[in-house]
Amino acid sequence: MSGFKKKIFAVFVSGIGSNLQAIIDAVENGIIKGKIGIVVSDKPNCKALECSRLANIKTFAFEPKKFSSRKEYEILIADECEKAGCEFIVLAGYMRLLSPWFVAQYKNRIINIHPSLLPNFPGTHAIQDAIEAGAKMTGCTVHFVDEGIDTGSIIAQREVVISNDDDLDSLTEKIHLAEHELYPKIVNLLCCNKIEKRQLQTLACVRKF
Ligand code: GRF
Repeated sequence: MSGFKKKIFAVFVSGIGSNLQAIIDAVENGIIKGKIGIVVSDKPNCKALECSRLANIKTFAFEPKKFSSRKEYEILIADECEKAGCEFIVLAGYMRLLSPWFVAQYKNRIINIHPSLLPNFPGTHAIQDAIEAGAKMTGCTVHFVDEGIDTGSIIAQREVVISNDDDLDSLTEKIHLAEHELYPKIVNLLCCNKIEKRQLQTLACVRKF
């Protein structure tokens, strides 16, 4: 037995959870040498929570409207992450902006995946925006989370070619495939303490469909 102590991390979700499932699979297959300590969601009925329950992962779901302020529920979230022993946080389709207070609690320890090649097409409609702009290439970006919207420093990107016949659905599917390959690898780098050295070196790789 080696003395390697597995890092524990949290995954925050709001939606379908396909990235969460890719991360769960990668943990189970040993591609990620770490452990999900808790899955946090602001949508108690989202599909992503089914994935975590099926995998027997502790979950914490909350309804923002039941709190008087963002700080109030963020204190609870931070507490739950701490109790679960989480060293970093992986946002996987979490649709809420984190407050500067929360970001400061986990400085350089929160990552996100975004469905475009940032800094192009930040925001919530990145895939549609790329189509409407007539872009020939888009992709996904893993980045550290700072106080802004999709502005934190970029860790890795993967390109996806946009074909003439792509629509929102087909392009979303291609980008998801790229995300499911890229995100677990980057989560593993964080688990193995390899991220800071590589942070400025983009791991870009073209995948054609
Ligand atoms: C992904 O496309 C990700 O880039 C964005 O939200 C989406 C989440 O999808 N941040 P899923 O819930 O992981 O299927």
